[in-house]
Amino acid sequence: MSEHLNKRIALVTGANKGIGYEVVRQLASQGIKGLVGARDEQRGKDAAARLRGEGLDVQFLHLDVNDETTHEPARRFIESNFGKLDILINNAGIALDLTQKPSEVDLQTLRKTFDTNFFGIVSVTQTLLPLIRKSDAGRIVNVSSGLGSLTQHTDPAWEFYQFKPLAYNASKTALNAFTVMLAHELKDTPIKVNSADPGYTATDMNAHSGYKTVAQGALVLTQLATLPADGATGGYFNDQGVVPW
Ligand SMILES: NC(=O)c1ccc[n+]([C@@H]2O[C@H](COP(=O)([O-])OP(=O)(O)OC[C@H]3O[C@@H](n4cnc5c(N)ncnc54)[C@H](OP(=O)(O)O)[C@@H]3O)[C@@H](O)[C@H]2O)c1
Repeated sequence: MSEHLNKRIALVTGANKGIGYEVVRQLASQGIKGLVGARDEQRGKDAAARLRGEGLDVQFLHLDVNDETTHEPARRFIESNFGKLDILINNAGIALDLTQKPSEVDLQTLRKTFDTNFFGIVSVTQTLLPLIRKSDAGRIVNVSSGLGSLTQHTDPAWEFYQFKPLAYNASKTALNAFTVMLAHELKDTPIKVNSADPGYTATDMNAHSGYKTVAQGALVLTQLATLPADGATGGYFNDQGVVPW
């Protein structure tokens, strides 16, 4: 454990591809040890190997946010190897109803979406929080979306006003509520909890239709993961600044 005593440790869920993969790269490039969380062992190991090939200090960690039996082993792994967790980026997410109308989306899709984008994140965070409390500068980044903003959804001038998939959007609104409630609970600790909106980013989630690169999308996650001691907590940010709730 001693070699890691002075090194910050970051776990990113759903890091085998997309924005999560890129944020591991950005953090590890700053000298932070990156744990590549992935539900699929092969995909996770391959991703970690690619990043190690760039000279980065990363390793795979099996974590399926929907499968609680993987949460406690992940906690034990981090505790026994590093003794603490400095950064948790709750990035894993799914979008199943992007082309469906709110009046038509079935309950199974709603439940499945909330399982990953909300309940799974709450469970992972609760399991790992004791290790984050052991960090002197814990940072939790909940990867939300501008689509979680009810203020933006009620503004006809907003760029994505027409885009109303209920399951995805509501799961991110719920995740934002977790950010606000948890940040309040932890306000007297060094831990900062924030929601990040990466913006419309080209990944598998949107068949690469996004206009931002993963490097651009991951930037706000990296910034929130490395906030200074006087940085914000309980906020909602994109790369332009504050996003309205
Ligand atoms: N792309 C955008 O425009 C955009 C905009 C706003 C917010 N976001 C958010 O950004 C985050 C990353 O999305 P992305 O665009 O990078 O999408 P992506 O390329 O589809 O990546 C999603 C990642 O989540 C993982 N994942 C899904 N379910 C999981 C589970 N149960 N346990 C662990 N990992 C799981 C996926 O793993 P597998 O490879 O195993 O499926 C994959 O690694 C998501 O929370 C998304 O909602 C994206």
